[in-house]
Amino acid sequence: MKKAISKNKFYYFFIALLFTISLHANAEDSIAIIPKPLSMQIQAGHFVLSNGTAITASSSNSDFKESIRWFIDKIATSTGYHLSTNKSSKSSISLLLNKQADTSLHDEGYTLKVTPSSITITANKAAGLFYGLQTVLQLLPPSIEGTTAMQNVQWTIPCADIKDVPRFGWRGLMLDVSRHFFTKQEVEAYIDQMARYKFNTLHLHLADDQGWRIQIKSLPQLTQVGAWRVKRTGRWGTFMPALAGEPTTDGGFYTQSDMKEIIKYAQDRFITILPEIDVPAHSLALIASYPNLSCTQLPYSVNAGGRGYERNDNALCIGNDSTFTMLDKIFTEIAALFPNPYIHVGGDEAYKGFWDACPKCQKRMANEHLKNVDELQSYFVKRVEKIVESKGKKLIGWDEILEGGLAPNATVMSWRGMSGGIAAAKMGHHVVMTPWDYCYLDLYQAEPTSEPPTYGLCRLSDSYNYEPVPDSIDEKLILGGQGNLWTESVPTLRHAEYMTWPRGIALAEVYWSSKANKNWNDFTTRLEKQFPRLDAANVKYSTSMYNAVFTPARIKNSDFGVTLTTEVKGLDIYYTFDNTNPDNFSQKFTGKPIQFPVGATYLNVITYRDGKPIGEQINITKEVLSQRLDEKHHVY
Ligand code: ACM
Ligand code: ZN
Repeated sequence: MKKAISKNKFYYFFIALLFTISLHANAEDSIAIIPKPLSMQIQAGHFVLSNGTAITASSSNSDFKESIRWFIDKIATSTGYHLSTNKSSKSSISLLLNKQADTSLHDEGYTLKVTPSSITITANKAAGLFYGLQTVLQLLPPSIEGTTAMQNVQWTIPCADIKDVPRFGWRGLMLDVSRHFFTKQEVEAYIDQMARYKFNTLHLHLADDQGWRIQIKSLPQLTQVGAWRVKRTGRWGTFMPALAGEPTTDGGFYTQSDMKEIIKYAQDRFITILPEIDVPAHSLALIASYPNLSCTQLPYSVNAGGRGYERNDNALCIGNDSTFTMLDKIFTEIAALFPNPYIHVGGDEAYKGFWDACPKCQKRMANEHLKNVDELQSYFVKRVEKIVESKGKKLIGWDEILEGGLAPNATVMSWRGMSGGIAAAKMGHHVVMTPWDYCYLDLYQAEPTSEPPTYGLCRLSDSYNYEPVPDSIDEKLILGGQGNLWTESVPTLRHAEYMTWPRGIALAEVYWSSKANKNWNDFTTRLEKQFPRLDAANVKYSTSMYNAVFTPARIKNSDFGVTLTTEVKGLDIYYTFDNTNPDNFSQKFTGKPIQFPVGATYLNVITYRDGKPIGEQINITKEVLSQRLDEKHHVY
């Protein structure tokens, strides 16, 4: 009998051990935090979030009062639980601000400890506590991101020890609200999406040729005229200009009180709004409102998305002092409205031909001993920097502000590759890196044949494999980087989401995680576990990482061959040349380039994983592939 009991005991112990090991393995399997924390140990056991769980804070610091309110709301929405703030609760999430700063955590780092009975987050500043709470959400099942309360979900969080600190202090996304206007609620939805991945800067491109989007109380025409254009639908760039007398019904703007709400909404999520007023070019909405400000003084309408004005008469006259009086008024109100220490003044892509032909600009050049129009632009930016600094702000601009000489304290946002950023850093200036080929979220993210029309190419793996600090540049001068979403071809929030995610998730990891922690295969495994979270949150995203990539190459003395790959490892690729839909009974790509049989015009391809289709079917013509043979860079 005794012997039997002991045998049973051993049996139960063994089963319990297996169960614990498998729970632990499952827990590790389900951990998919992005951006990847600096260090993380997962332990056996888990914390269960319940209606009795409390969230408590070590002080009543108002900076994270809002975080607590936000977390309680978030949990209530998807679980139906109402977390208390009762300190004597048996199950609690405690937020502790370090009394004595842990210097290794800097301003935004945190530690997170999960045991079966408690979750403890410590940080030096409120931002770190907020990021710790974001990580807690990522440790919960995906339905935590749901928009209605789910029953029958075990809200477990694996026991863990995490220490996490961002690599860069500037982790941004840019949203162009000029080319298409996004409402306050839409911008706030975008902010929520950014906060999930620990971004801290939302750069709003508030003014361009297609719309002025921020109320300036002393200049009402800017929004009465500049915020509105004629309505056109279809493919951007092909639209008809405004007809005589046609009503301008398309557009919108943020009142200053709307913007204060957006700023507060973002602040509560530890995101700062960087305002951009793009001058001296890209200024047609301003010029349409105040035509005396251009060199030609011609009357224009706000551009509706057509090819625009033949010679791009969209630049301010630098010879006209009214330009600077106007900018002083604008930047006075912008500086008072936005708490961000920087004002972005654009500076990109100026067509300088009108300055060459303008008597006022020529006079300015003579008086100021400026040798050419590049120096005239540099004069402009230096003078604008003085205005911006007189309002207590720092100037940041696109890398064209280097041309003709950089303003003394300017920060450079490098977009035409890294070279502008490198040049600025070599002169000791701060830099925010946003090179287009890694960071432009308006570019194609997959085979253009199957994507909505745009231009260029920036795949998810390009964004992920991007390193923002060039060799031989002091990392301290690189403040960080952004992903930039220009919205010419992005008319809705759903499409903005599709273009942003998951490339924005890759960039979140580039800017937050340590270089040593980056690993593409590990990232895609974690990313796949983010998809159900985005589904639960009703956020649209692209799954193009599963699609086939077509690489045509010449074969000696012959035609050309096509290599098929996928960004994600481990997929099977099937194809046909006979105009039928491929499946896993079709030819499987083996790695050897394939050639079009004589007479075949289409290559149709689909990807599978574990016997199930996973990528989109892409049908591509021989003609399209052959046109790409000699292209170095695809500009579609
Ligand atoms: C830019 O893309 N023109 C900054
Ligand atoms: Zn002029």
